[in-house]
Amino acid sequence: MMGLRYAVTGSRGQLGRCLTRMQGEQRLAGSFARADLDICDGAAVEAALAGLPGGPPDVLVNAAAYNQVDACEAEGAEEAQRVNADAPGALARACDAVGARLVHVSTDYVFPGDARSPIPEDASPGPKTAYGRSKLRGEEQVRQASPRALIVRTSWVFGPGRNFVGAILRQARLRDTGEVAGPLRVVDDQRGFPTYASDLAAGILALVAAIGDQPGGVFHLCNGPADPADAPISWWDFARAILDRRGHEDLVIERISSAESGARAPRPAYSVLGCEKAAALGVNLRSWREALDAYLASPDLAITLELQDPQT
Ligand SMILES: NC(=O)c1ccc[n+]([C@@H]2O[C@H](COP(=O)([O-])OP(=O)(O)OC[C@H]3O[C@@H](n4cnc5c(N)ncnc54)[C@H](OP(=O)(O)O)[C@@H]3O)[C@@H](O)[C@H]2O)c1
Repeated sequence: MMGLRYAVTGSRGQLGRCLTRMQGEQRLAGSFARADLDICDGAAVEAALAGLPGGPPDVLVNAAAYNQVDACEAEGAEEAQRVNADAPGALARACDAVGARLVHVSTDYVFPGDARSPIPEDASPGPKTAYGRSKLRGEEQVRQASPRALIVRTSWVFGPGRNFVGAILRQARLRDTGEVAGPLRVVDDQRGFPTYASDLAAGILALVAAIGDQPGGVFHLCNGPADPADAPISWWDFARAILDRRGHEDLVIERISSAESGARAPRPAYSVLGCEKAAALGVNLRSWREALDAYLASPDLAITLELQDPQT
C-alpha cells in the first residue's frame, strides 16, 4: 500500500516522537499527545480521527501507554487498567468505526520470562506483573474489537525520552562529579535485546505497508544480535556498552541479581522475542549495537538527558 496516511497517539513518548518525525512514503496525518487526546475517551478518539484534515487516516499507531512497571503493582494499578487495558479496546472500536487500522504496541512482559529460546508470537502468554497483565488485557481487547488490528510486541525500548541509557549516563556523571561514590550496580540475570524507538517506528510503518489489505495479527519487532549466533544480552552488558561508548571504560559496574535490585515488580528473566513473522514480510531491525550507536550520535540523546528523571 503506497502513501498511506497514519496518525499517532501518545506522540510525546519515546516511540510517539519517532513516529511523528518519520520521512517516507507514509504520510503523517495527525499526532496526538496526551494533552490533546486522552486515549481512554473512545468518542473523543473517533471524533479526532474523523476530524483530521483529509479525513480519517488509514492507520492509527497507538504509542501511548502507562509504563511504570513497579507503580502498576499498587498506586498505578487503576491507571494501568485504564490506559493499557481498556483504552486499546476503545481505540480499536474507534478505528473500525472510521475505517482505520489500529497498530497497538505491546511488550515482552506479557510472557513469564521462562523461555530458553526466542519467543514466537503464538507462545502462551503468562504475565508475572500487573503491568504485563494490563498489557495482555489490552491485546485481548484489541483482538476482540478488530480483526484488522496489528499488535506489535517489543522489548527494552530506548529513544527520545526517559530510559535506561539516560539513567546509566546520569549515574556515570554523578560519579564523575564525586556526588556519588562506589561502583554502579546493574542487574545481570535478565536477558533480552534493547530496541531503538526510531527503528521500531520505521519497522511498524514498514510492517503496515507490507501487510497491505491482509487481516491483522500479532508481530514481534526488536533490535537483534549483530550476528545470529550472538547471545542475548543482560542489562549489565547493555550498561557496559553504553559506558564504553561514552568514554567511561574505567567505571566499574557491579553485577547484581534481580532480587538484589529491590524492584517491586519481578522482571522476566528471558525476554527475547522471535521476530520471524516480520522478517518473512521483509521487515528486520538492525543489531542493538548499531542501534545504540545511532541513538548516541543522534539528537535523541539530548532529549533523554533533558527529560531524565533525577531519581533514576
Ligand atoms: N519503554 C519500554 O522499555 C517498553 C518495552 C516494551 C514495550 N513497550 C511498549 O512500547 C510502547 C511505547 O513505549 P514508550 O517507551 O515510547 O513509552 P513512553 O515513552 O512512556 O510514552 C508513553 C506516552 O503515552 C502517553 N500517555 C499516557 N497515558 C495516556 C493517555 N491516557 N492518553 C494519551 N496518552 C497517554 C504518555 O504521556 P505523558 O508524556 O504525558 O506521560 C507518554 O507520552 C508502549 O506501548 C509500551 O508499553 C515499552
